[in-house]
Amino acid sequence: MPRLFLTGATGYIGGAVLTRLLAHPLQHTFDITILVRSEEKAATFNRIFGQKHNLSAVAGSYSDLDLLKKLASNSDVVFACADADDLPAAKAILDGLRDKHSSGGSPILVHTVCVLSDSADGMHSSQPVYSDLDIPQLETLPPSQPHRDVDRALVEADSEGYVKTFIILPSTIYGFASGPLVEAGLQNYRSQQIPRLVDVSLKRGQGGMVGKGKNVWGNVHIDDVANLYLRIFDLVAENSPPSDFAHGRAGFYFAEHGEHTLYQVGEAIAKILSGMGKGTSVPTTFTDEEIRLYFPNGTSLGSNSRCRAFRGINIGWKPAMNTQDMLYSIKAEVEAALSV
Ligand SMILES: NC(=O)c1ccc[n+]([C@@H]2O[C@H](COP(=O)([O-])OP(=O)(O)OC[C@H]3O[C@@H](n4cnc5c(N)ncnc54)[C@H](OP(=O)(O)O)[C@@H]3O)[C@@H](O)[C@H]2O)c1
Repeated sequence: MPRLFLTGATGYIGGAVLTRLLAHPLQHTFDITILVRSEEKAATFNRIFGQKHNLSAVAGSYSDLDLLKKLASNSDVVFACADADDLPAAKAILDGLRDKHSSGGSPILVHTVCVLSDSADGMHSSQPVYSDLDIPQLETLPPSQPHRDVDRALVEADSEGYVKTFIILPSTIYGFASGPLVEAGLQNYRSQQIPRLVDVSLKRGQGGMVGKGKNVWGNVHIDDVANLYLRIFDLVAENSPPSDFAHGRAGFYFAEHGEHTLYQVGEAIAKILSGMGKGTSVPTTFTDEEIRLYFPNGTSLGSNSRCRAFRGINIGWKPAMNTQDMLYSIKAEVEAALSV
């Protein structure tokens, strides 16, 4: 019985991955542990999904390093879908997996991060477009890139031989997560970037963007992201996986299926809002004051994040939704924001 451990189960990505694990054809063979940050949510998970799915929810957080290490040390596969930046937590999980290996296991870690950012401030797009098949190119990314320290810790652990690491790097994820966790009110069903732009646009009464919105991001639907995790999970057990099914140094999997400029997103929001009598259909640049007001901790919405998900495609991942779907999804995001 494979023992699976997942963090971020109440989140947009982690919940979508857990939803697929609960619907997996081999689900009856899994022993699933999740970490959630409140006793109340842990109790609800255990009540609804515990017995039915052989799931055990444990209350704790990424600050509980001893607990993380212990839970990882009991696991064959860890899905880390909570805070991608938390290096001590990533190290605690790796320590636990080292113990698992010492006791005869062959543990797997599937980790979520998001690298690639620049300081374009919406004024231009960027080159290069990173490919997940071009490992030397990825290795030129400076340590200052987001989450790079976590990536490096994982790759180093894999090279030591006690764990196989797979790093999934989603672009802008969009669409509503769905399934029993959302229905039970346990999972965040909305993403971050587009909902944030929608919220800000509603507050200022006009669709907008950073600078001229010429910066470019990849996009990917939440269902496609979750399917990539499951594709990797399924291949781990396969005797002769595709040749691009790599781990460790080469085990980087971008998740994208199309690109957009932030002008396109701002324009889609502006058109919807102007149809409701708010502002004009042409997006406007956020003023410096608005940036300070709405993004006090800074924002990646003016940066570029360009990549190609060749590795996932080569291992049989079949993303279904594209940039048109992303633009179409914005109407529902506006409706969701208005209904809160
Ligand atoms: N959404 C995107 O477009 C996207 C794209 C690329 C990468 N990412 C990265 O992927 C990660 C997950 O994103 P998401 O969209 O799923 O976010 P989310 O919906 O906010 O979910 C975050 C999950 O992590 C849990 N969590 C947060 N901090 C924690 C901590 N210190 N200890 C234990 N659990 C913690 C949250 O628990 P609570 O329910 O208790 O808050 C929640 O379950 C983030 O690091 C994000 O930056 C997101």
